[in-house]
Amino acid sequence: MQEINASIPFDKRLWKQDIILSLAHVKMLSAQGIVESEDANKIIDGLDQIANEFAQNGIEDNLALEDIHMAIEARLTEIIGPVAGRLHTARSRNDQVATSFRLWVRDAIDAVLSALNRLQQVIVQRADQHADMVMPGFTHLQVAQPVTLGHHLMAYYAMLARDIDRFKAARKRLNVSPLGAAALAGTGFALDRDMTANALGFDAPMGNSLDAVSDRDFALDYLGAASQCALHLSRMAEEIIIWASQPYGFVSMSDQWSTGSSIMPQKRNPDAAELVRGHSGRIMGNLHSLMVTMKGLPLAYSKDMQNDKPPVFEAHDLLGLCLVAMSGMIETLTFDAQNMHKAASSGFSTATDLADWLVRDVNIPFREAHHITGAAVRHCEKNGLALSEISADILTSIDGRLQGHKLPDLSVEGSVNSRISYGGTSPIRVREMIASAKQECGL
Ligand code: ARG
Repeated sequence: MQEINASIPFDKRLWKQDIILSLAHVKMLSAQGIVESEDANKIIDGLDQIANEFAQNGIEDNLALEDIHMAIEARLTEIIGPVAGRLHTARSRNDQVATSFRLWVRDAIDAVLSALNRLQQVIVQRADQHADMVMPGFTHLQVAQPVTLGHHLMAYYAMLARDIDRFKAARKRLNVSPLGAAALAGTGFALDRDMTANALGFDAPMGNSLDAVSDRDFALDYLGAASQCALHLSRMAEEIIIWASQPYGFVSMSDQWSTGSSIMPQKRNPDAAELVRGHSGRIMGNLHSLMVTMKGLPLAYSKDMQNDKPPVFEAHDLLGLCLVAMSGMIETLTFDAQNMHKAASSGFSTATDLADWLVRDVNIPFREAHHITGAAVRHCEKNGLALSEISADILTSIDGRLQGHKLPDLSVEGSVNSRISYGGTSPIRVREMIASAKQECGL
């Protein structure tokens, strides 16, 4: 029974939050005249001593005490005697668990937000260094149109900005206090729930005591935001893995953020990127795990809910590792301008520029321009030419309307420089985006 029942092996991570909420609770009980101030002071001193002990010596897994909340109360009783029993007046472990876990997740969100900010800064800095470096842009992983590396990196900046929004929204929704809901029905004691909510940095007490003890949306919100963030990191990791492979050769990874092979001395493997990709699956699995745990539970508290913590703790630890590793990898990648340029020039990547020119300068409807460009590409393919090498005569023979026109700049540089629409890949636009991103992320 003890083994299946106990949560202390994992919920001891809540010890600080539990002590903070107990301090707020007992101060309120004293202010309301529910506990005498002399007793309250003994409880406060005892809790302070426990905090010091735990910080110094760690916490033993005493399964007989079930969880961290009981362990703290038991230790408090050892230190100050039966007066410790007054701390649990007008509360239950149900509102206690809900409150301490909320406080923990709030801290976790703050930690993620600062790690996300750091990653955004790294990305902006690398984008700034390479705002006009040309690389292939892909669709279907086929070379489509040339883009700039700065533009490509800033796409990830934009994804992370949405992640930051999601974590901030989760934090805002989370920030209400279950404390004082007691077991499920509220209590007959004259509590001041605003006082404890305030002391714990919550915006307000929760308005329904049943909901207060049974709601785990905040944990699901955290896991949802973490999953989507991990999904973005996984896509980024996948690109690093592809770019670092020899047939691509777009980047080389630093020694610091890659590993060698035990048998092939020449190898530099992108293990950290692969683990970011791998960990994202575990984080998403944890979201699923808690959703399935919650979906069948009647109001208010059921013991299944004790299983809310391991998936959140694990997801948070994994996400923290992924964010640091991704910052380290991006910061230390070396980009191979030549290989990217070569790849950007392959596959007739500027064919759209030719078609656009036919529309703009020769006044041909786009669908026909598309057709003419197709014929030009086929000619080049057959004769081993680049699009920019096609002669005016050949173009005229494809379509008479082209006679006398001077061909546009079909280089990859010309292509990216021309894409000046808002949000486009031209270095001018990309530098504008970088400038406002720098402000946004505090650079
Ligand atoms: N260890 C439990 C948990 O973390 C404490 C809640 C106890 N409440 C109860 N009604 N048994 O969820």
